Amino acid sequence: MSCKFPEHFLWGGAVAANQVEGAYLEDGKGLSTSDLQPQGIFGALTPRVAGDSGIKDVAIDFYHRYPEDIALFAEMGFKCLRTSIAWSRIFPQGDEEAPNEAGLAFYDRVFDEMAKYGIQPLITLSHYEMPYGLTQKYGGWGSRKTIEFFERYARTVFERYKHKVKHWLTFNEINMSLHAPFTGVGLPEESSKSDIYQAIHHQLVASAKAVKACHEIVQGGKIGNMLLGGILYPLTCKPEDLLETQRQNRDWLFFGDVQARGAYPSYMTRFFRENDIQVTITPEDKQALRETIDFISFSYYMSGCVTTDEAQNNTARANILNMVPNPHLASSEWGWQIDPIGLRYLLNVLYDRYQKPLFIVENGLGAKDSIEADGSINDDYRINYLNDHLVQVAEAIDDGVEVMGYTSWGPIDLVSASKAEMSKRYGFIYVDRDDAGNGTLERRRKKSFYWYRDVIQSNGNSLKKR
Ligand code: BG6
Repeated sequence: MSCKFPEHFLWGGAVAANQVEGAYLEDGKGLSTSDLQPQGIFGALTPRVAGDSGIKDVAIDFYHRYPEDIALFAEMGFKCLRTSIAWSRIFPQGDEEAPNEAGLAFYDRVFDEMAKYGIQPLITLSHYEMPYGLTQKYGGWGSRKTIEFFERYARTVFERYKHKVKHWLTFNEINMSLHAPFTGVGLPEESSKSDIYQAIHHQLVASAKAVKACHEIVQGGKIGNMLLGGILYPLTCKPEDLLETQRQNRDWLFFGDVQARGAYPSYMTRFFRENDIQVTITPEDKQALRETIDFISFSYYMSGCVTTDEAQNNTARANILNMVPNPHLASSEWGWQIDPIGLRYLLNVLYDRYQKPLFIVENGLGAKDSIEADGSINDDYRINYLNDHLVQVAEAIDDGVEVMGYTSWGPIDLVSASKAEMSKRYGFIYVDRDDAGNGTLERRRKKSFYWYRDVIQSNGNSLKKR
């Protein structure tokens, strides 16, 4: 039996401004929080001066090379490209009254280029960055003022691009603030839980306000949230493990619950009380939260396990979320456990819970590639990973889950988020640049480039159930 996908399935790839654009101070852009993290999203805050050379300063130079890159995406048959707008290109410090025209003009050029090939943009308003000025002057999302600044930014870009961009996302992996508070909400890493949840609350209100603004401004537009889909399994069938797994899954599902249902879920009352977390939620906030998203989007790279066994908890930690490894699964070179069936399971969990369309906006394998003597790059490991995940997407669709599209992460090699490395490659397109920033930036098609082109051309029919 072949894999079946809906007729207008949005096949494509996903990147983020701070991981591809470079040009970090060009055309009036202000410093973003990402520019202060040259070691990656968990990295300590590093003061920057103009002209020094963190790897993201140039990244893959998408800022200047986007026509070539978009032409390559079009060659693969992309229907959709997810990228983000760097907020600090539009409002360099974050609190200006008027936007930076040169920043707005850049994204006009990018969207026009995509339109030439019929590629639909899927645009994240904030992907792991905000204007650094807002963290310095206002304490980032710790301040209610930031809601206003974000709403102004969101309204500005909706007005500007309303005829060019119909699919929007609010905050990338909004649940990541629990693990990386500076990246997520612009707070110091050592902030208290109350401060982090208060900042998250402000961000959730801002997300809902952006949803409202999008509904008002972008005719025929759709706006979703974006969750890090870190689904957890109990390590054993011990009832305590099951309960703890439910609790830990709620840590991230909480965000989806607020964004999709329009109110705080009841389980948070006890969670806040038992953890001595105080969050100020006004009646106006509650009203604002009622404006809910149109679809759920999420990233999926791996699953993990939960145990109440302290000894195992202390030894066997792996991957970015410190999940306990699953003994039945193999891992990538970076310790991320590979679990295609987990994607089918997650799609079903989210659809059962929200009954809203789902969009897989990140999935892929970060791996080291090598170039053969004849210049080819034979990335069968990546093809196998993506094939097996897409087969499970088709299974979920067959289960009755409504899936709008699939944008694989990093269709072109880019700077990794967690450690700011180039050597962790996700792309169908190789970029000649190493971790130290050496290389010509030349682009080169990998074997997976032709494989993905065939998948899209056949609308998934070429996938193999292995
Ligand atoms: C997601 C992020 O967490 O995972 C991306 O939204 C990121 O920005 C991706 O790049 C993969 O993580 P990494 O660390 O391998 O780049």
